Amino acid sequence: MVRARFEQVSYNLAPGETTTRQKMTASAEAHPNIALVKYWGKRDLARNLPAVGSLSVTLADLCTQMTVDFDAGDSDRLIINGQEAPAMLSRVTRCLDLVAGVDRPCATVESQCNFPIGAGLASSASAFAALTVAANAAAETGHEALVLAKIAGAASGSAARSLYGGVVELSAGDDEIDLTQLAEADEWPLQVVVAITAEEEKPLGSGAAMIRSAETSPFYSSWIERQDDDLALARDAVAVKDFVALGEVAEHNCLKMHSVMWSSRPPIVYWNQATLACMESVRLLRENGHHAFFTIDAGPQVKVFSMPDAVDIVEEVLRKTPGVLRMLRTGVGDGARLIPK
Ligand code: DP6
Repeated sequence: MVRARFEQVSYNLAPGETTTRQKMTASAEAHPNIALVKYWGKRDLARNLPAVGSLSVTLADLCTQMTVDFDAGDSDRLIINGQEAPAMLSRVTRCLDLVAGVDRPCATVESQCNFPIGAGLASSASAFAALTVAANAAAETGHEALVLAKIAGAASGSAARSLYGGVVELSAGDDEIDLTQLAEADEWPLQVVVAITAEEEKPLGSGAAMIRSAETSPFYSSWIERQDDDLALARDAVAVKDFVALGEVAEHNCLKMHSVMWSSRPPIVYWNQATLACMESVRLLRENGHHAFFTIDAGPQVKVFSMPDAVDIVEEVLRKTPGVLRMLRTGVGDGARLIPK
């Protein structure tokens, strides 16, 4: 009942519009992003504020398309890839409330994702970024990208970065986050090959895992203390397009995050044999003079960054690496945007 008021208010604001007004619906798409300096740890659980800043690259090709339809049904609905998805619904409802207000009409949200969900490929990042953009347009709330990024970040910390394309830095203030685009999508032709080493959903979500890390890992505090140093190194490397320097800090930061996970109680180990084999393949590629570095998130997939001249050999070597099931190859993509329905 509360939600129905939004409809009346908005209709009253524009008298006569009731008969001509189109349905409150819009579609948006967003890409996942891969952090090179990782977000791991929360400063404020209730608001999902990150304990550390992070730096990421938004991907091209991998994509979530989201349609929000404020159709004033009896309750919100979420449909992912054609299937009703009640498990994620409460997070979606909260996100819609933050975009359109709690007095909004109920919505049907339909999501199509062209890559595995919940397998360490940042599917929640592209999902919540697309959701905020679509909901903002459907409800005609007119929020700026930074406001939508903060709302998406409240749903899933990494989603804030997917509002923007290219290379993105998220700064973690005491009370809120800020975002800066360090390079546009077409400024630096980084290539990414994702080695898929398992298709199933991860056993422990990243949110719960980082809470466990904060509570139990003896390395957590030094992880937090040193993050600004890593961010500065990565920011400087991006500014002068220094691939080697970026790779060094990215691998170091990734392995540090996984050390925090491994040293949690119970330990959090997302890797499998193939994850390790891929890391070794990347090391050998470098030994043979090819510029490439890896990063790994809360899952067993290995993301290998290279420049265009090395991407074919990266793909060839990963294909031959034992345990690699398949690969995705992409470049740097744009931020979240509206699309025709
Ligand atoms: C390892 O953004 O999924 O991918 O805020 O709890 O939804 P929640 O966490 P999420 O965590 C991402 C963790 C990471 C590193 C990163 O993307 O920075």
